[in-house]
Amino acid sequence: MTLKIALLPGDGVGTEVVAEARKVVDATGLDVAWTDLDWGAERWHRTGSMMQDDWEALLRDHDACILGACGHPSVADHISLWEMILPIRQRLDLWANLRPVRLLPGVPTPLAGRTAEHIDMLFVRENSEGEYAGVGGRVHRGHPGEVGIETSVFTRMGVERVVRHAFERARDRRGQLTSATKSNASRYGYVLWDEVVDATAEDFPSVTHERVLVDALAARMVRNPESLDVVVASNLFGDILTDLAAAIQGGMGTAASANIAPGTDTPGLFEPVHGSAPDIMGKGIANPIGAVWSTVLMLEHLGEPESSARVAAALDAVCASGPRTADVGGSAGTVEVGNAIAAHVAAS
Ligand code: NAI
Ligand code: MG
Repeated sequence: MTLKIALLPGDGVGTEVVAEARKVVDATGLDVAWTDLDWGAERWHRTGSMMQDDWEALLRDHDACILGACGHPSVADHISLWEMILPIRQRLDLWANLRPVRLLPGVPTPLAGRTAEHIDMLFVRENSEGEYAGVGGRVHRGHPGEVGIETSVFTRMGVERVVRHAFERARDRRGQLTSATKSNASRYGYVLWDEVVDATAEDFPSVTHERVLVDALAARMVRNPESLDVVVASNLFGDILTDLAAAIQGGMGTAASANIAPGTDTPGLFEPVHGSAPDIMGKGIANPIGAVWSTVLMLEHLGEPESSARVAAALDAVCASGPRTADVGGSAGTVEVGNAIAAHVAAS
């Protein structure tokens, strides 16, 4: 069967790492029909919009989409995010954002005395509402009395589905779920979230669960990462905690994510966690690990576990032996690392 995959490199280093992700998927020998999309900042300057008008129908006509990153210094970030990545996540209702956090062999962590056996977590981030619901407004612009209001939106349905999914993942891993909120200071949405966690726990007797305040959790991730298995968090908290997690697992270039709608046939969006990294774009030194790892998640989600495992094994092998990019202690370029992973996959 041919897999129809949309390729959305986006901006900056997104284009550089997505090229390597594609190369690695091709090396599996799977039959893939790629659709190249030119969406992003350059298109915005040329046409006035980040994406083509029929973007939703186009994406829905594919099995999956691989995204690099969106964002360019020449376009305000709230425009690039709200005209591409956030509408895609919301309109396709890709409500679960999965971010595995594992220290790959040979990759240095900034945490002293920690090795791969201490760092193996899965973050499940709510991806459709919460603090990024887009509800709010501004009045009296430019005046001293100006007001900006940003409203978080938590629905019982939205919280229940992501919490339940996190419990299922925990049940299939080490059986431990940590839920992060800030329900002491924020009394409504996060309290609803906590209540849903406690109620859902009754359906998962094999999973132990705990509720932790997000600030304490941030400290615990640094001091005691081995105490964490699956973490479920709101849109904002998941966003922040997974940048910290990325640093723990070796840096932004190493972190992968899947945006999916479990239980539906909506195509998932698979992307490295990092942004377009304007500070290093065009230099050929971006780490492709996060993008390649995202294809591991994609192939598994597409029902290709064997190909997924081959890419994962190749990632581990190349991280262990090199070549590696500078951010993880090597001196190789993006393409060299991509070629090494692809060669490993092809030989496996
Ligand atoms: P960033 O993730 O692009 O960069 C943060 C730091 O990590 C930089 O020092 C960068 O050099 C480094 N880095 C990122 N990717 C790397 C890689 N593959 N290899 C090695 N080092 C890497 O975040 P930043 O600088 O806050 O944002 C830059 C732009 O990206 C902004 O326009 C922002 O809005 C956008 N952005 C887009 C995201 C997306 O498309 N999902 C996510 C985060 C940011
Ligand atoms: Mg982020």
